[in-house]
Amino acid sequence: MVTSSAPGKVYLFGEHAVVYGEPAVPCAIERRARVTVEERPEGVRVHAGDLTLDGFTVEYDGDAAGRPDVDVPDSLIEAGVGYVNEAIAQARDAVGDETAGFDVTVDSQIPLGAGIGSSAAVVVAAIDAATRELGVELSREELAERAYQVEYTVQDGQASRADTFCSTVGGAVRVEGDDCRTLPAPDLPFVIGYDGGAGDTGALVAGVRNLKETYDFAADTVAAIGDIVRSGERALADGDVAELGRLMDFNHGLLEALGVSSRSLDAMVWAARDAGALGAKLTGAGGGGCIVALDETAETATALEYTPGCQEAFRAELDTDGVRVEAG
Ligand code: MEV
Repeated sequence: MVTSSAPGKVYLFGEHAVVYGEPAVPCAIERRARVTVEERPEGVRVHAGDLTLDGFTVEYDGDAAGRPDVDVPDSLIEAGVGYVNEAIAQARDAVGDETAGFDVTVDSQIPLGAGIGSSAAVVVAAIDAATRELGVELSREELAERAYQVEYTVQDGQASRADTFCSTVGGAVRVEGDDCRTLPAPDLPFVIGYDGGAGDTGALVAGVRNLKETYDFAADTVAAIGDIVRSGERALADGDVAELGRLMDFNHGLLEALGVSSRSLDAMVWAARDAGALGAKLTGAGGGGCIVALDETAETATALEYTPGCQEAFRAELDTDGVRVEAG
């Protein structure tokens, strides 16, 4: 039996635009998905609990047939099942055993579909644990590549390497197309607000693609996000946290123009700004889920706790550890 864990992440800058070749800077955070894998004679059985901050338990037998009776949208359950199944397919391929059987237990501190990287963390940890269980240790490069292939398949060919690379290696990273690297980063005082909801990544990415193909302003907006990311990289290198905050505000405005924000995300962003945060933006695909703000003081977290539509607010540290073995 092997347990591996991998971190979730927030996007400092660049979600959505990264799908079209612009750079993005995601940062791993100290909220982890832990996946335990034990070999079994045949088939795959998956147990998943605590997939939202509220926590619920999902149990099914490797396909959607045994759909659990839980109060989350079908699309999320289907996506969750799809990510785990594709991760197992990658692990089987990596060890050269197409029929290997596994018992998989997912225990995640990262809410599902909320923009802080639950699917990438589960996929990375699952491939790592399943291959190790069969005696194969993948390099981080191969693990990140296989995890990306899972997201690419489940998201119908519309995925960047940003989430999976960040979850594999940890820390602050820069992703532009196939070019993935880690970045030195100062201490970043992340505060996260969570509305209890989720967005459908595939549908949101498809929506931005449609907009971009229909309106020149949307293509220009995607390019403008790329400019913000490049400025953000300079601010990160200078340790200029105030400038990072300003650029996050601009980035949120552009994501709003692309139609991926929501009333609750906007309410949390404005609550954070009013409380004195250096900057605030939605993180991830949008539609609902989480915002990320920068604030060294306790003011933003307190303001978010009293913001209608915010279910939970918490501080998250940058996690410089990527995937790691917890037991086994
Ligand atoms: C989703 O976490 C981030 C997106 O940019 C999609 C992707 O990069 O694959 C919206």
